[in-house]
Amino acid sequence: MMFKDKLIKERIPKHVAIIMDGNGRWAAQFGNERSFGHEHGVEAVRSVVEGAGEIGIDFLTLYAFSTENWSRPKEEVDALMGLLVQAISDETDELKKSNVRLQVIGDVKSLPDNVQEKLAWSIDKLSGSTGLTLVLALSYSSKWEIVEAVKRIAEQVKLGKLEPSEIDYDLMNCYLNTSEMPDPELLIRTSGECRISNFLLWQIAYAELYFTPKLWPDFRKEDLFEAIFDFQNRERRFGKTSQQLVS
Ligand code: FPP
Repeated sequence: MMFKDKLIKERIPKHVAIIMDGNGRWAAQFGNERSFGHEHGVEAVRSVVEGAGEIGIDFLTLYAFSTENWSRPKEEVDALMGLLVQAISDETDELKKSNVRLQVIGDVKSLPDNVQEKLAWSIDKLSGSTGLTLVLALSYSSKWEIVEAVKRIAEQVKLGKLEPSEIDYDLMNCYLNTSEMPDPELLIRTSGECRISNFLLWQIAYAELYFTPKLWPDFRKEDLFEAIFDFQNRERRFGKTSQQLVS
C-alpha cells in the first residue's frame, strides 16, 4: 500500500515546512556544478507542491534561500536567482490551475529587482486561489525575523501605543512574517543533516522534526507522504503526559 493511502485524512498537518538540502551533493555525484543540483531541485518542488495539494495541506513553506546563502559564490547566487525567476514564470499557470496561492517570507527588499517583480506578478496572479498556500522563504532567517519584530514592537512602545505588559506570545506572533498562518506541525529536512539552520525558530516550538537522508533533488511527493505517515504515528504531548492525553 502506498503511504498516501495509509494517511488519516482528519490528521493531515495544516502546515508543513521543508529545509530543502543536498542539491550541491546531488550534483557532485554526477561530477556536475552545484547549480545543476538546484535545477533538478525544482522537479522536487513541483512534485511536493502537487502532493501537498492532493492531501489537503493548507500551508507548505519551503526554505529556498537563507540570509546566510548570500555569502555563497556570486555565480551560485546569480544562478539561484535566475532559476527562481524561471521557475515562477514556468509554473505560475499550473499553480493557478491547481488553486495554489503564493506567499513570501523574508527580507524581500534585499532580492534583485527582477526577482521581486516576478514574485509580485505571481502572487497577484494566484491571489484568487483558495487551496494550498505555497510559502517561499527567501532571504529569510529566523533571527532576522525576530529582530525585525522586536524593533517594530519597541517602536510601538516608544510611541506610547503599546504597554510592555501587553507583549505576549500572541502579540509576538502578529509581528512575525508568518502572522497569517498556523505554526508548522511538521518540519522536514533532507540530506541527512540534523540542524534547523535559522529556520522558523519561534514557529517550530512544538513541531515534529523529520530528517531524511534523501538529497533534495531525489525527494518526491511519496517521500512527503511517508514523512506525514511518520508524523501521524507520533504522540504529540505539548508538555502533557501520555496519561493526560488518553483521558
Ligand atoms: C540547499 O542545498 C538548497 C538551496 C540553498 C536552494 C534551494 C533551491 C531550489 C530547490 C531551487 C529553486 C526553488 C524554488 C522554490 C523554485 P545545498 O546547495 O546547500 O546542497 P549541499 O548541502 O549538498 O551543498
